[in-house]
Amino acid sequence: MKGIILAAGRGTSLYPATVPVCKPLITVYDKPMIYYPLSLLIDCGIRDILIITPPGEMEPFVHLFGDGEDLGVNISYKEQKVQRGIADAFRVGRRFIGDDSVCLALGDNIFYHPELTKMLMEARGDETGASVFAYFVDDPRPYGVVELDVGEVPVSLEEKPKRPRSNYIVPGLYFYDNSVVEIAHDMAVSARGELEITDLNQVYLKKSKLKVTRLPADVKWMDANSPFQLLYAANTVQKIQKETGKYVGCPEESALRAGFITKKDVLRIGSAHRQTPYGDYLLRL
Ligand code: G1P
Repeated sequence: MKGIILAAGRGTSLYPATVPVCKPLITVYDKPMIYYPLSLLIDCGIRDILIITPPGEMEPFVHLFGDGEDLGVNISYKEQKVQRGIADAFRVGRRFIGDDSVCLALGDNIFYHPELTKMLMEARGDETGASVFAYFVDDPRPYGVVELDVGEVPVSLEEKPKRPRSNYIVPGLYFYDNSVVEIAHDMAVSARGELEITDLNQVYLKKSKLKVTRLPADVKWMDANSPFQLLYAANTVQKIQKETGKYVGCPEESALRAGFITKKDVLRIGSAHRQTPYGDYLLRL
């Protein structure tokens, strides 16, 4: 399975914070936002990762991760020339995906639960069809909304509905089989000029190939899409790290647990950043 991080949002909703730096590189508490989806993909055992960046802004991403060697993964980069929506990731990433299945993580979504990896691996299942998640929120209107029948069977999907049929939203982590490439290729843009991820999921839903897993209420999900949400995400990460003594969004730790790198590698990276909380955490690992 390949992994894509869609980090192409400039982040106009966070203006002026996103003038000097694009949204996925903004700090959430103590690390760049993109660390969170990156460590999530590594937690899922994914080794080949494509980062889709805004046009003309690939360099700082390359500066951060290079070719991924330090993390024992292969990272490549591609620009999204025109902002054409989330499902466009499968057009931009067509060659990268090849004949494989793929997991897409949105660059501004942060998830946390001590058992999250286990939940994600179970949901991913046998890698046929599509597998997405349902998460309860008080106000689902700004999101993709899924309505579930008994037995977790999805019955409807709507993007940003004025009158939502449920309080369950589909957060930004999606697993697809290889047919996603053709589906994205054949899709038409929506009224707002985007290839909507919800329209793509609809195709799977109509074929009864959309699996939806309800995330338990104690999963933390954050969409850092406004100044308030960004602050909330930072506070939540700080609180979790303080209470559990474990870092959220630490790709080195994920890579160590996935067996992609050794303790010696982590020690080397930690030593280079000794006397920073992050470096010291790596040394403690
Ligand atoms: C996007 C998707 C939406 C999804 C959300 C998760 O919304 O279109 O279906 O629920 O991400 O963060 P956007 O961030 O473009 O408003």
